[in-house]
Amino acid sequence: MTDAPLLLSALQTDQKTARAPRILPLFSKRLGSWHISVGREEYDAAQLSTQYDALSHKWARKIDRLGFGAAYAALIQSVAAQPRYALTTPKPHVVDIGIGTGALAGAFCQYHHTPVHLTGVDISPAMLGQAQRNLDALGVHATVIEGSLLALPLADESCDVVLLGHVLEHMLNPHLGMAEIARVLRPGGLVISAITRPTALGAVIQLLWRTQRISESRAKALFTQGGLIDISAIPLASARLAHQLSMGYAARKPGA
Ligand SMILES: C[S@@+](CC[C@H](N)C(=O)[O-])C[C@H]1O[C@@H](n2cnc3c(N)ncnc32)[C@H](O)[C@@H]1O
Repeated sequence: MTDAPLLLSALQTDQKTARAPRILPLFSKRLGSWHISVGREEYDAAQLSTQYDALSHKWARKIDRLGFGAAYAALIQSVAAQPRYALTTPKPHVVDIGIGTGALAGAFCQYHHTPVHLTGVDISPAMLGQAQRNLDALGVHATVIEGSLLALPLADESCDVVLLGHVLEHMLNPHLGMAEIARVLRPGGLVISAITRPTALGAVIQLLWRTQRISESRAKALFTQGGLIDISAIPLASARLAHQLSMGYAARKPGA
């Protein structure tokens, strides 16, 4: 008889694969010698890209209904009001990773009237197309590139600002994405992000999208692990549903 803890787990996978399943935990609890965990296999990049391609024509309306238009505008405004996040480059290179339909980039460009060099990166070609059209309508030109946060098609220290709206949640190992962000940011560069938080509403998104919810302390640890400083959590208080779903963050890479 061993006293090894008994493991009870329930996993949902789509297909039998030769590789070990990459499980995003939905629920995980220790009860005495029991460890109960329930999780779903994460979508791979091809599955995610197909899903977002299919939703791209209605994504902008969807997030607007959740209040993210207003919430992103308030987040950008709140970051800009803090002197430690001041932009020093005359025409900053702004990169929105997982740009979706361009809501966060649009909010940034509408607030900062200075000209920016804007790049959008996404694994979904249809999302990139929508982002370009939506940003064009705001009078903002964006260069869009198909690519992943896990291997950004950008040179080291080439970006002044990284925008990141609800992308880390899709990753089993979000610290790998954070390391890529730190690589492409110039010294002194700024990250502005929104991340799903561990609330009941966040759990619905998690169930639908096989994402993970990330607590404020874990998010801050991820920024710190990426070597970023001046980390702040900024509640998305201007919109009720967006506030329940997500937390805003800002951080900076040390240096010039
Ligand atoms: C939840 S949506 C958010 C879109 C947009 N940032 C917003 O806030 O409305 C996630 C976006 O990230 C993209 N995405 C997911 N995983 C990605 C990855 N590893 N690299 C780049 N983009 C990714 C998806 O295609 C999708 O457009």
